[in-house]
Amino acid sequence: MKVRLVLVALMGLSIACGCSSSPNASSTSTSVASTPPMVTSATGAMAGALADGRLIFQTGKDVDGVAINAKKPPLYPKCAACHRADGSGGMKLPGGATSADLRYKSLVTKQKHPYTLALLERAISSGIDNDGKPLDPVMPHWALSKRDLHDVATYVLTQLK
Ligand code: HEC
Repeated sequence: MKVRLVLVALMGLSIACGCSSSPNASSTSTSVASTPPMVTSATGAMAGALADGRLIFQTGKDVDGVAINAKKPPLYPKCAACHRADGSGGMKLPGGATSADLRYKSLVTKQKHPYTLALLERAISSGIDNDGKPLDPVMPHWALSKRDLHDVATYVLTQLK
């Protein structure tokens, strides 16, 4: 008799427990379910920007297959032609200029005024360096869409090591 009562009490508890825990369980699963898509889209945007930036740098065409332009016709149509595929630069170019090393150590670590994304965008589009000085005119003044400018600058800042 005593055992039965305990069993009944336990059953009652487990039912009560089942009822009261189900809203919790569903709200937990809702928040878990809503997190991955947000993470995925942020990661996807970054991956998309880097893929576009890499194509521009290495091939001179963006992710839509559109060739990049400069204000004056550039000596070479892609960044890698002057700065090398790994960004290490050091190529002697007509007119006596040597292409810059674009790797992180050179653009950021060793600089008194390190390049930021905004400063890189300025250098790429208007040939003004991180100290506010004009770069050698062999470095083209690129006329890129806002997206392409952002993407190639992001690629340079984060992928060339
Ligand atoms: C025709 C050759 C050429 C091409 C193509 C070229 N660059 Fe350059 N770039 C140079 C040269 C040369 C310099 C160094 C100029 C100087 O020392 O004043 C330079 C400098 C730079 C700098 C400044 C680095 C510093 O140390 O201040 C950045 C950033 C840069 N280039 C990015 C790019 C990107 C991104 C592309 C492609 C969208 C590109 N360049 C395409 C020749 C080129």
